[in-house]
Amino acid sequence: MAFTTLDEARVEALGCVKCRLAKGRTQVVWLDGNPASDLMFVGEAPGFHEDRQGKPFVGAAGKLLDGMLASIGLDRTRCVICNVIKCRPPGNRDPQPDEIETCSPYLRAQIDFIKPTVIVTLGNFATRYILQRQVSISRVRGGVFQAFGAKVIPTFHPASALHSGGEGSPAWEAIRSDFDLIGKQLSASKSVEPAPEPAPAAKAPLAEALLEQGSLF
Ligand code: URA
Repeated sequence: MAFTTLDEARVEALGCVKCRLAKGRTQVVWLDGNPASDLMFVGEAPGFHEDRQGKPFVGAAGKLLDGMLASIGLDRTRCVICNVIKCRPPGNRDPQPDEIETCSPYLRAQIDFIKPTVIVTLGNFATRYILQRQVSISRVRGGVFQAFGAKVIPTFHPASALHSGGEGSPAWEAIRSDFDLIGKQLSASKSVEPAPEPAPAAKAPLAEALLEQGSLF
């Protein structure tokens, strides 16, 4: 592990100038919510409002996320929310592979220290990072996978539901149904003893995504 505490990782991230995104940011967006919780949401990258406020998912997509959390009886005090990359890309463009790679130790530290039992990946970038495969979110959502010692539930990015018709659209309904799955998996992981981790030698370098459902491609 590159850091000895989550706070050490946070302090380093807040001053990070390791990639081109440092120049254009207002501030680094570290995480929001409760790092003691079992449930982690991973988004893509901060947008305009997140960059200004220093918190993930505070714009329109964040409101949708908050509403979906409320629909399963949760709020931000019961989960932790972060992004694959911690600085806003200019004009909200997609994160580039080298930016994801450079920022990777920070998300790794967040996962390693927070140790969520359920990780929800929001959209393609987070899902590919966590599953370490070039999957398409529309193919994998609705499934439950295993990576980083957690159950992984991929779902559409909330922004995609907003851009594709909003409330009642197929993407919105898919997210709603995935949130029901999150609720079920959280209750299941509380009532069952965790399975022992495989021996380190048997592990793939970053994460082995063990599929429980369907084909990835
Ligand atoms: N979209 C993201 O992926 N992350 C945020 O924090 C906000 C919007």
